[in-house]
Parts: sequence; C-alpha cells; structure tokens
Amino acid sequence: MNILVLGSGGREHALAWKIAQSERCTSVFIAPGNAGTALIGENIPVSPTDFPAVKKLVLEKEIGLVVVGPEDPLVKGIYDFFQNDSELKSIPILAPSGFAAQLEGSKSFAKAFMNRHHIPTASYREFTADTLQEGIDFIQSLPLPIVLKADGLAAGKGVLICQQHDEAVAEFQQMITYAKFGDASKRVVIESFLKGIEVSVFVLTDGKDFIILPEAKDYKRVGVGDSGLNTGGMGAVSPVPFFDEALKNKILERIVKPTIAGFHSEGIIYKGFVFLGLMIDDGEPFVIEYNCRMGDPETEVVMPRIDSDLVDLLLAAAKGTLGDVQLKVSEKAAATTIMVSGGYPGSYETGMPITGLDLVAEENGVVFHAGTKVADGVVLTNGGRVLAVTAFGENIAEAARKSREGVAKIHFDKMYFRTDIGYEFE
Ligand code: AMP
Ligand code: GLY
Repeated sequence: MNILVLGSGGREHALAWKIAQSERCTSVFIAPGNAGTALIGENIPVSPTDFPAVKKLVLEKEIGLVVVGPEDPLVKGIYDFFQNDSELKSIPILAPSGFAAQLEGSKSFAKAFMNRHHIPTASYREFTADTLQEGIDFIQSLPLPIVLKADGLAAGKGVLICQQHDEAVAEFQQMITYAKFGDASKRVVIESFLKGIEVSVFVLTDGKDFIILPEAKDYKRVGVGDSGLNTGGMGAVSPVPFFDEALKNKILERIVKPTIAGFHSEGIIYKGFVFLGLMIDDGEPFVIEYNCRMGDPETEVVMPRIDSDLVDLLLAAAKGTLGDVQLKVSEKAAATTIMVSGGYPGSYETGMPITGLDLVAEENGVVFHAGTKVADGVVLTNGGRVLAVTAFGENIAEAARKSREGVAKIHFDKMYFRTDIGYEFE
C-alpha cells in the first residue's frame, strides 16, 4: 500500500520512518517533507492545507492511507473534505473531524468538553470584547500567577502566564482589544494556575476503542535547567520514570476513558491521535490541553519505542477496528536532542550546510530531520528546529548521553542545542 504523510517536521520524519518499516507499506510519500524524509520516501511539494492539491496527489499516487502530522489541516477540516468527496470518501485518513479538532483549535471548546465529562482541568472563565470589564474585574480577583489563553490557534504562542495583576490586565486588553494573536484572541480563556510536572500522553483512537502509546516528557524552554523562552521543544524523553502504574491508572480512568466515551456519546467523529498535555500535581493528573495530533519532539522518542507494525495500528484506527489490535512497546529508553539554528525561538538564519549526518551510526540512534532541505546535493538548514538526534539506552541517562554523542558528530554554523535533556532522570 502507498501511504501519504502530510507535514514537514521531525514528527513527520519519525512517522514516515516507522511507516516505511511496515510490511504493508509499498511506498511512503511526504508532502512537503524535508531532506530527511527524502531518504526514506518521495517528497511531493504540496501544502497540507491545500486540500484540492492533496486530493490530486492521493489519486495520482493511489494512496491507501493518509496520515496527517500538523494541526492546521485537521482544524481546517481535512477529514470532512475527504468524507464529502466521492473519490476520496473510501480512502482511510487518520484524522479527527474538523468539529472534533476544535479540542485543539478552541480552548473554550476543549474546556467546555472537559467540564461536560468531569475531566480534571484548571477552573476557568472565558471573555470577549462584550465582557471586557468583567474579565478585568475577574483578573483582579485571582491569585497569582494568572494564566491567559487565546481561544484559537496561535502557533504555540497563545498562552501567557502573568506574575502581576497589572501585567495580566494589560495583556488581556492587548489580546481582546488589540488582537495580539489576531482572531485567535477575540475570545480569551482565563484559568487557574496548575503546579506540578508536565507529561505528554498519546492516545490512538477510532472514536470508540483506544490504545495508549508510550508517554513522553518534552523540554520546552530554550536554556539549560528549563530556563529562558518557550520553544516548540528542545528535546524529549520516553518513558517518563515517574509515570508509574498508579498514575497511569488515574489517567486512564479519569481522563482517557471519559474523553473517548465523550466522543462516542456526543457523536464526535475522531479517528486519530489525541495528545493529552497533562500536569501531575502530587500524583494527581490534570489536563492542561488537548492536541489533536502527535507532539513534536515527542514523536521522535515515541515512534522508535513502538514495536508493533505502526501501519496495522493506524489502519485499524482509521477503519474503526482498534479493538482488535494489541500494542507492543519496547523496554528501551529513548531520548532526543533538538539541534536548532542560533537565535531560535527569535530570529535566525537558514541555508547553513550541515555536515556529519552520516557519522551517526544507525546502532547508536536515528537523526530525524525537522527544518532541512537539499540544494545541489547538500543538506542545508531550513528552519528554527533543524534536527532531532534520537538515541536509545537501558535508561534515560544512557539514551540522553548517546543522543549528545550523536549531536557532537554533526555541525552547522551557529548551531545550538540543550546539553541537559533528561537531566532530572540522571
Ligand atoms: P499550551 O499552549 O496550552 O500548551 O500551554 C503552553 C504551556 O503553558 C504548557 O505547556 C504549560 O507549561 C503552561 N500552562 C498552560 N496552562 C497552564 C495552567 N493552567 N497552569 C500552569 N501552566 C500552564
Ligand atoms: N511538544 C509539544 C507540542 O507538540 O505541542
């Protein structure tokens, strides 16, 4: 079967890499892909949100399964586009409906869903221009810090954690009155601050049955010791040592089961990944957010730990037969270090030649590409996050050390990476 992966980051390289290992996969196509995906499949220069172009590609290449990496096409309704098209309707696509994807596309939708199903999350209220003054009064009444969230998609930037009331009021007004995040911040969710440790849990569902994939922890801050600005992710580890059976059971009973049962009872069509961003406070799990896709860089440590044939799992989810499959997970630990362009998450240059990629031996790990491209046979940097160097070990410490050994073999001008991924688990 020919399989199409939509997207161009490290997540999509890791998905395509795992898909390409399946006996059921004849060819894997990646749209638009990067220099790394070109090594395992064929890149096609089509944007994941250009649905008519995606349709042409699916029909031309006789695609038997479509896997969607990023949130944009999901929130824009790629699932519904397929269902409403007579030629695409019968082609399995792993995606929630556009309505379901609001779990990520609208914080307000997600919070209301959680409240309806009694899923533990931070308490909240939401405000618009019509209720601006009530919002300001509410902020003044809250303990610090105060969490403000743009309702819509804001490229990962729409959450502000304010340490002062004045700052929170000013930011709130910027969001609503001055459209700080465009239309995304016309509505603002204000919620209570959750303390604890974050963990990412991934559920694959067909809307009725589900399997829980290996959990992961990502490192969002740019600097060592979790300092500095928030980024898309500077590294990740899996498994997460504090994720024990007791915690897993609480997450299963209080969060995963009610979420999937909620889809079922509300008639929400969801065939795909549910990414639970959780805060664990003293052993008690709370949902910070839902995403309707896999995480990046978490996918770069989750996929390598799946021993099952991924295509079997994805097809079962897309076709509604997930109840029949079993997940096999490797005991080994995985860690990934993200190599970024100097200046990221602020401004940075691209087009730097990358050397040493062939020096990372396969037995030591896998280099997943994120922002890369090929020009005249040379691999060049092409984004903020450039490479994810994943390695394995008996434990997190060993995997992280090997990941850094891999990083040390690679070079590009102005490169930067965190030297302490997995530091709490040394
Ligand atoms: P999000 O864009 O929803 O992933 O939020 C970005 C980050 O903000 C999360 O990964 C958390 O670190 C933090 N965050 C979001 N909501 C809360 C909250 N209610 N309490 C504490 N931290 C939060
Ligand atoms: N690593 C967090 C995300 O993908 O949103």
